Amino acid sequence: MSLTRAESARGSSPTVSRGSASANPENPWGDTKTATVTVGDTIGPTGRPRPYFPEPIPLTEHGPARVIAMVNQKGGVGKTTTTINLGAALAEVGLKVLLVDFDPQGALSVGLGINPLQLDLTVYNLLMERGITAHDVLLKTGVDGMDLLPSNIDLSAAEVQLVTEVAREQVLGRVIAPLLPEYDVCLIDCQPSLGLLTINALTAAHGVMVPLECEFFALRGVALLMDTIQKVQERLNQDLVIEGLLATMYDARTLHGREVLARVVEAFDEQVFHTVINRTVRFPDATVAGEPITSFDPSSLGANAYRELAREVLSRWQYAEEE
Ligand SMILES: Nc1ncnc2c1ncn2[C@@H]1O[C@H](COP(=O)(O)OP(=O)(O)OP(=O)(O)O)[C@@H](O)[C@H]1O
Ligand SMILES: [Mg+2]
Repeated sequence: MSLTRAESARGSSPTVSRGSASANPENPWGDTKTATVTVGDTIGPTGRPRPYFPEPIPLTEHGPARVIAMVNQKGGVGKTTTTINLGAALAEVGLKVLLVDFDPQGALSVGLGINPLQLDLTVYNLLMERGITAHDVLLKTGVDGMDLLPSNIDLSAAEVQLVTEVAREQVLGRVIAPLLPEYDVCLIDCQPSLGLLTINALTAAHGVMVPLECEFFALRGVALLMDTIQKVQERLNQDLVIEGLLATMYDARTLHGREVLARVVEAFDEQVFHTVINRTVRFPDATVAGEPITSFDPSSLGANAYRELAREVLSRWQYAEEE
């Protein structure tokens, strides 16, 4: 899989230490591990030196998709907001993005301007009915290169009905598999629970991303989440990795916000993304408008934060490939 092609010779900032651009067409990034390159002595909001994440250049071929489950059983921490906006930011740099609404609330579908009550086919039909294919359920979104498997309240019945299925934890992975060769990344927006639907998402995924709201109880429940991830690794999906923890709704002006973020970094260190998403009313506004912040308010700090996250994620994948 060749997901990123970071620019090999940006050369605009003298403070960026980079390896020489490689003449080897197999390795257009040169021999520097860009994920670890830091820009001067700038300390980022996580209290660590802020690395330089290069602009990816467009892919010339697509697929197969890396599947990421967006998980936290705590509600309202930014899972859906991150799925929409990270997806849109990745699509903006040329990746083909598949979003899966895996929450009966249908918030991801609503956030993309779709009325979940008017859907004929949803992920529920895909999971439960033979003869329905992922292509039947697939919808285009308003973002070029980003498609959606939508959901609505019907999905809540699947949690119960799946219990009696053979290989009940593997149903989602099986039904989305035919789409994956066409996409570069697939983001699964999970509901706030560690029930069977979320276990299906973790079983289908290569990586799990954990958004954490920067408030006092941010870490409450994270131990249980890590325990669940470990069990899935042991029993269902040994290749599952933790993609990273993402601090959301951060307010640098409050001591409380800074303390919570410091505590998260203390607990999870390098697993915490350098990119931090600030609290801003533009996110709820974009949700109401039914579009990602990258198109609703393209030059906003929020839009740029998700673009930065997209670059960081791509750098991590590139780094993992080079290891
Ligand atoms: N960075 C942010 N700043 C301000 N508001 C935000 C931010 N991120 C998300 N929100 C808002 O917070 C609310 C919850 O966010 P979101 O729906 O993304 O969380 P969630 O984890 O998906 O919730 P649930 O667990 O219910 O699915 C939404 O109204 C959203 O618009
Ligand atoms: Mg949600």
